[in-house]
Amino acid sequence: MKQVNKLLKQIPGARKLARIPVARKLAKRLGIISGNRDFLLEMLPKNSVGAEIGVHTGGFSALIINFVKPSKFHLIDPWKYEVSETFSDALYGGKAKGGQSELDARYEAVLRKFQVLIDSGKVEVNRGTSEEVAQNFPDEYFDWVYIDGNHLYEYAKQDMELYLKKVKVGGYLTGDDYTEGGWWKGGVKKAVDEMIETQNVKLVEIRNSQFILKKTER
Ligand SMILES: C[S@@+](CC[C@H](N)C(=O)[O-])C[C@H]1O[C@@H](n2cnc3c(N)ncnc32)[C@H](O)[C@@H]1O
Repeated sequence: MKQVNKLLKQIPGARKLARIPVARKLAKRLGIISGNRDFLLEMLPKNSVGAEIGVHTGGFSALIINFVKPSKFHLIDPWKYEVSETFSDALYGGKAKGGQSELDARYEAVLRKFQVLIDSGKVEVNRGTSEEVAQNFPDEYFDWVYIDGNHLYEYAKQDMELYLKKVKVGGYLTGDDYTEGGWWKGGVKKAVDEMIETQNVKLVEIRNSQFILKKTER
């Protein structure tokens, strides 16, 4: 990524350091590098209005803030623990060993992490499912929406359809985990492929399990 390369050139020894896994992990945590989503961060328009559906601990949100510099950024997540066996491999199910308390702690940590930007009105945390929160936004409000919430087919499909309405013509509907398999059984891929076939979108790119669609006129 151009900015990162520029930054690395300015710090003696930083390039070598970035090759060390622990240093890379730290740099990711600090929101300095992203790895496989760099191309997406470069593509999203600067000073735009955007949303991330599925925030977790806000790691990718921080990268979006650093690189895209949105004028308004909505973080959407219910931070709700899912008990069902279906979610035994999900970060908000079986992988959250602390149950709902762990999810509450993640929410609190996100509030702390972005407190200054929340106070200034640049970041808004919308705690609720993508479905519950969608009605708070006018149609054609967003320049882009990054979808990374519940990946099961019916939820992915619902997110795509609900938020296509909320994105401006010429804006982007994008997201993570466009893959076969996974605990979500390829639900994201199926929903995206169907949308390309049936809705007013143009495929821009699929790379590193990320999809980018552009909303077109009907
Ligand atoms: C894979 S994590 C998101 C990771 C984050 N985007 C990142 O790149 O760091 C999935 C998140 O989706 C959230 N989630 C689950 N169901 C959701 C729903 N119906 N609407 C919005 N978010 C949801 C979970 O709470 C979890 O934090």
